[in-house]
Amino acid sequence: MPVNVPIYRGLDEQDRQRLIEDVGETYARVAAAIPAQEAAEAAEETIGPTSLEPVEIPEFKELIGIDASVYRQLNAALSAGKQHLMLYGPPGTGKTTLAQLVSGMLHDTYAMITGSADWTSQDVIGGYQPVSGGTVRFIPGVLLQNFDRPLIIDELNRCDIDKVIGPLFTVLSEQKTTLPYRVDVADEGSQAYVILPKPKPGTAEHEFAPKPGWRIIATINSIDKAALYQMSFALMRRFSWIYVDVPADLQGFLLAIMRQWALVGEEAEPSSDMALARIWRAVNVARAIGPAPILDMLKTVQEIEPEINFLRAPSEDEAKAYLDGFYMYVLPMLDGIQHKAAIDIATEIRNALQLPEEGNVSRVVEERLVELAV
Ligand SMILES: Nc1ncnc2c1ncn2[C@@H]1O[C@H](COP(=O)(O)OP(=O)(O)OP(=O)(O)O)[C@@H](O)[C@H]1O
Ligand SMILES: [Mg+2]
Repeated sequence: MPVNVPIYRGLDEQDRQRLIEDVGETYARVAAAIPAQEAAEAAEETIGPTSLEPVEIPEFKELIGIDASVYRQLNAALSAGKQHLMLYGPPGTGKTTLAQLVSGMLHDTYAMITGSADWTSQDVIGGYQPVSGGTVRFIPGVLLQNFDRPLIIDELNRCDIDKVIGPLFTVLSEQKTTLPYRVDVADEGSQAYVILPKPKPGTAEHEFAPKPGWRIIATINSIDKAALYQMSFALMRRFSWIYVDVPADLQGFLLAIMRQWALVGEEAEPSSDMALARIWRAVNVARAIGPAPILDMLKTVQEIEPEINFLRAPSEDEAKAYLDGFYMYVLPMLDGIQHKAAIDIATEIRNALQLPEEGNVSRVVEERLVELAV
């Protein structure tokens, strides 16, 4: 099919005008087609009851082994009228799931966005964007678009928090913020947009005010924290920080999950420590990791050896399936552990899986762990 490529002669005034119009039109078409924010697009969820009444957060049956202190602190923060919550802790402990369950209890709908290093204030707060008619207009970012419901910012530490949330900082401090954007770009006398810190009935065109259901529920993975952008103390103080730890009783956790998934009978008890619990415990000495990668490991073993009994010492083939699961989901999380810790984990894996000490398999386990060590 022949493609109609327009040709413009730069010295011809008529052609120059045509170029300006065509580019303007293209921009307008593109602006109409693209949603306001691409990078920080929110996933919306609709769930439980809408209620502005205080809600008691129950222990969620979806999550096992979450310490009672988590629920106690959540409820204390909410009943004290604290608006913004920060769930932090080791990877895979259920922080994101908890943020969603809590949001679902607090409001009939919520939005969730996941932090990214290339977020800008434009994505989050908003900024000028081309619109039809060859002009630009202030388009609210994902935060202002979800000013009426809980907004989960998952993995907040993955973006440059102070830079991105900067303009919102004043709002979190309960003060008004004026944005550097006018309602009518062309009119220098036009009012600048403002963000109000508190709900206000009947806001004016240039005002953004949170609705009573708005709050930020953020999650931070405490392992990434050191390596990634840090949050200023001033912003930190605006949140209630709730630590979501690894379950205290690892074997008890695994038994509960296996019963829930009907992998073992309700009454079944291991005669000695389960291999999976032993490996998880050894890993946690070096680096705390939550249930998520361990559950992925468990599913892998189950997939490869459908007949396996997790309560018994593994056969040679079952030991290989455990190692597959370990290499796929747990090993990558151990980058940078100490050399001694690597050796200790390798030793415990060998014992738990009853691998021959001098064998090739034991050697590979140790090599792979040591390779990640510093
Ligand atoms: N305590 C738990 N009980 C049951 N399932 C859990 C628990 N913790 C995590 N999981 C499961 O592991 C998966 C991942 O959990 P989730 O993403 O909520 O963890 P996270 O703490 O946000 O992880 P990350 O630190 O990697 O962001 C989910 O399917 C969740 O159901
Ligand atoms: Mg998460």
